[in-house]
Parts: sequence; C-alpha cells; structure tokens
Amino acid sequence: MSGSAPPPPAPSPGDLVHADRVHRRAYTDAALFDLEMERIFERGWVFVGAESEVPAPGDYKTATIGRVPVILSRDKDQGIVVLVNRCMHRGATVCREDYGNTSAFKCLYHGWTYKTSGDLIGVPFGGGYGKGWDKSAFSLRRAPHVGSYAGLVFASLTAVDVDLETHLGGARKYLDLMRDNSATGSLDVARVPERYVVEANWKLQLENVVDGYHPPFTHETAFEAIAREKGHNPATTSTQGSGARCATLGYGHGLLDYSDTDRGYSGKSSDSALAHHASLVERLGQERADEVSNADLQLLVFPNLFVQTGRQHLRVIRPVSVDRTEVYAHPYAVPGGPEDVNKAQLKAIAWWASAGGFGQPEDLEALAACQRGLAAPMAEWNYLGRGLHREVALSELETSGDVTDEVAQRGMYRRWIELMVEQS
Ligand code: FES
Ligand SMILES: [Fe+2]
Repeated sequence: MSGSAPPPPAPSPGDLVHADRVHRRAYTDAALFDLEMERIFERGWVFVGAESEVPAPGDYKTATIGRVPVILSRDKDQGIVVLVNRCMHRGATVCREDYGNTSAFKCLYHGWTYKTSGDLIGVPFGGGYGKGWDKSAFSLRRAPHVGSYAGLVFASLTAVDVDLETHLGGARKYLDLMRDNSATGSLDVARVPERYVVEANWKLQLENVVDGYHPPFTHETAFEAIAREKGHNPATTSTQGSGARCATLGYGHGLLDYSDTDRGYSGKSSDSALAHHASLVERLGQERADEVSNADLQLLVFPNLFVQTGRQHLRVIRPVSVDRTEVYAHPYAVPGGPEDVNKAQLKAIAWWASAGGFGQPEDLEALAACQRGLAAPMAEWNYLGRGLHREVALSELETSGDVTDEVAQRGMYRRWIELMVEQS
C-alpha cells in the first residue's frame, strides 16, 4: 500500500461537552477545529470590523471569517459590503493590505480589477474569453448577510438562523451602554491594533477574557505594579464576594461586570470625566447617564469579539489552527468622551497588552500552559463547574454568578454544542 493513512475523523461534538466540563479533545483535535470553522465561523454571525475603521468611501480593511479572507469595504454607492477576498480568476487574494483607500481592487496575478462593491470591471487583453462571456458572473463573492450594531459590523457567509439583533441576545443591553456613552452612537476604533499570538486553542482565549477567577494569581505581578503606582490593587475586585459578577447572555456571549466596584481604570472623577457625565445627563437624563458612566464591562460577543470598557479597547480573536490563535487589540476612543481618558488608551494597551506589557504576556503563558497540559490523554476533562450551584437567572437570556464563577464559560459551551451538533 502506498500513501499515508487518512486523518482520523473528528470526534462527535456531543460527546465532548457536558454541563460542567469540556473534553480535552475539544481543544486539541485538528479535524474538530475544521468543523468549528465551518459550523461556527462560516455559518454564523462573526465580527468583521467597526464602521469607524472604514469611515470614507473607498476605505477598506481586510479580515477573516474563520478560514475565509474577507474585505470590509465602504463602497461609495452601496455603503459597507463584506467581500470574499479571493480573485474569481484563479484564487489569489485581491487585497493584501490591512487597511487602505482605493477606487478598485486589482489582482496582482493577471490584473483582473474589481470595484469596491466587488463588481468585476477589468480583464486585461479583451477578447480572450469569446463573445457572450458574462463578466458579471465573476464578481467577487459577497457575504449575503451584513449588519451593524453600535457601529460594530458583523457578517455571515451563509444563511443564518437568526437576525443580528437576535444573535446579539443579552449582549445588546451592554452594547447599548457603550453606544449611549458616545456622542455619535459608536466607538472610534483605532486602525492600528496591537497584535499577538496565543499558542493555544481559540476557545481557551475566549474562556480567558471572561475569566474573573484568574487575575489575582496570573496577574499578581502586574497588580502589584498598579498598586505601587496608584495605591489601588485591582486584585481586590477579582475576589469572591467583591461585588463584581460574571454572566452569560445567551448565544454564547459572556460578561464580567465590575460596575459595582471601583477598579480605578476610567478616571471617573477627573474634571473631564465629570464634564462628560454632565453632558450625558443632558442627553440621556440622570438615571441613564449614571448607568452609562458607571459601566465597567468586559463583554465577549461570541465567537470572536471582546470589548473592555475600562481600558477602552476591543479584541478580535482569530483562530488560526487547533493550537494557535491570533488576537488583534484595538484601542478605541469614545466620541465626545473625556479627552484625557481617550488619549490614555494607546498607552494603557501598550502597558497591559503589548509584547513587553505587564498583563497580557502572563495570560499568554497561562493559556499556552493549558494547551501543553491538555496533551495528557489520561486526564480527559477540563472542569468548568465553579459556581454551578449558585448561578442565578436574571432574565430569559442572562444568568449570573460571582465574578470568580465559570458562568460565562458554561454559556459559551452551551452555544458551541448547539452550533456543532444541531447542524451535524
Ligand atoms: S488570479 Fe487574479 S487575475 Fe488571475
Ligand atoms: Fe488575564
């Protein structure tokens, strides 16, 4: 016999997730990773970018939806479209820049040229395809579903079972707090992200952004540095009973809510913060303004977006392979928000999340350590049962628990199993 053996089939997803545990193969099996890309990323709603990243006609940003390269393009006539970044001639990505402005996308291989709407407008050396050749059949493929909420653009590459608003579920309530904080109703997202690689499965990264259990331990050094500089130790807000909470919001979305604590990130009492609050009171009324100003949120929008209002930034999580994930952290400014807080964001991200930063490298090591440990076949399950006995339903979509509980992670895997099994 010649040739290599075929790869083993993916394990059945329904066998890998129980109410309080996840099997190690969910993080280590390459065939399962392919199924996830197909069933979660290439069929559902996925975050692509912010409207503010492509503010003018001709502006574009390249991104990926699962394994599919896409272009978030603002066409002068058709507005924002999401194009599949794949030349209809012989497959090359037609746009190879991260960001830019153009009147057309020209493929580097044989020069086929597409409008920013995706229409094919130029094929070098006319006549090569004979009479009646239909150029319109060779337009760039488009994501059939594109929607925007609070200035955040989501797309789906295939038919979706729910519209975007339904998909956002209980996360909308928290996105609305961010939206109302802005004079324009959206966030001004920086086009220069801090990028980093996580040597771990993408779901470990998702679990981590709504993990309020780990900070006092993983980030002990960073928190000591903050305490030395500011006289305030954030570790105290990530302890059991601190008043902070963890929640699941339906459809896999999750939340760490520190609004009832003062982590001291936002400079809420500075002169400019007080002036901003006064403008919110004028625009929204006292009660809503208080709610908006008080919000200190870490929101996961399943499967690939994380927004943190304290250190104003969002992160896009991009699965690369079963044990490798890329993350793009974009600082954002709140239009009309306190200038000093807006200006401080780049520094805050560099301080926490850059390669030489205090916080993020610690998470990266923790996640890589998990991925290495999960290679051990004799211990099969990751245990996510913390706080299961004390989880409280707040609404049809939202259940909540102590900040140290694994409420959001369990919610994430309930959605994972729905998407992975029901579509089998
Ligand atoms: S592959 Fe794009 S023009 Fe040939
Ligand atoms: Fe962390």
